[in-house]
Order: sequence, then structure tokens, then C-alpha cells
Amino acid sequence: MWVIELLARYLEDKPFEIVLEHSRHVADLALEVGARLGMTGADLLFIEEASLLHDIGVCQVHAPGLGLHGIHPYIMHGVLGRAILDREGYPFHALVCERHTGVGLTREEIIRQRLPLPHRDMCPQSLSERIICFADLFYSKKPGRLGERKSVAQVRKKLLPFGEEKVAVFDAWLSQFKYE
Ligand SMILES: [Fe+2]
Repeated sequence: MWVIELLARYLEDKPFEIVLEHSRHVADLALEVGARLGMTGADLLFIEEASLLHDIGVCQVHAPGLGLHGIHPYIMHGVLGRAILDREGYPFHALVCERHTGVGLTREEIIRQRLPLPHRDMCPQSLSERIICFADLFYSKKPGRLGERKSVAQVRKKLLPFGEEKVAVFDAWLSQFKYE
């Protein structure tokens, strides 16, 4: 599959294996949600490809625990991934990268919290973007725990420090995506 080859061009060895396994779990859950919502064919294919590529930007971040020795802070991985996929000619997959941090970041949050990110809205917009962002919340990249799907309570707990409104977005997705 071309996406795996693309991923392998930017990540090697341990990071490649971690990102691929993590992304495979995200893709499977995102596909499950997409199918439940009646998506088919090209839409599901896009969900699968973009899920597998959503974390490609970690190749340029500093996260020694994951075997990553880039110069950028971890929070940049979405923006970095977008730049990579734009350059590779996949602008729609690129947007999934940029818009998957937590339940999304607003321009105001980026400015107010002085995050090291460009000042623009990074909230998932399309249905596919929202489904992949949602699915990603259930899986971590902690080696050894890649296959563990978090409970709804665990996801809520993880989001709460970032604000009640983040939990509210997640709760809205839970019902919209008919997740039990
Ligand atoms: Fe992820």
C-alpha cells in the first residue's frame, strides 16, 4: 500500500513500527465508525489512508522514548505532518495531520496558551477529519500499550485538563458516531 511506503520513507526501525501499529488501530476504529455512519468506497479508503498517515510528522519531533530525535516539540507533529503531505501532493490527507491534536485546537487557544504553532484554526472540519481525530483519542503511542483501547471515561479524563469544552466536543462525537 502506497501509504505504508510513504510512512517508511520518513520513519525507520522502532518509530516506524510504533507509528504503524498505533495508526493501524486508529484506522480500524475510524473505519468502524465510518461504516456505521454509512460511508463507503472512496470515503472509507480515504479514512484508512489518512489514519495511517496522520502521525507522519513525528519524524521531525524530539521524543527519545519513541526513538525520535528531531528538533521540534511533540505538539508540532500535526503541522509538520501537514507540510510533509502537502509537499508529497496529498493536501486532504495533510489536513487530517494538522487537525488531530486532542479534539482540535482553535486559533484563540493557540494564541492564548502561546503554543509553538502557527496562528490558525486546527479543528477537524470534514466528517473524515472528525472521525479520525475521534478514533485517535482512544489509542496512545506508549510502547507495549499500543493495542489498548481506552474507555470513554479514560478519554474524558485525559481531555478534562484542557477544558470542559473539550470534553463536550468528545461527548457530542460519541453520540454522533453512535459509539458505545
Ligand atoms: Fe495518533
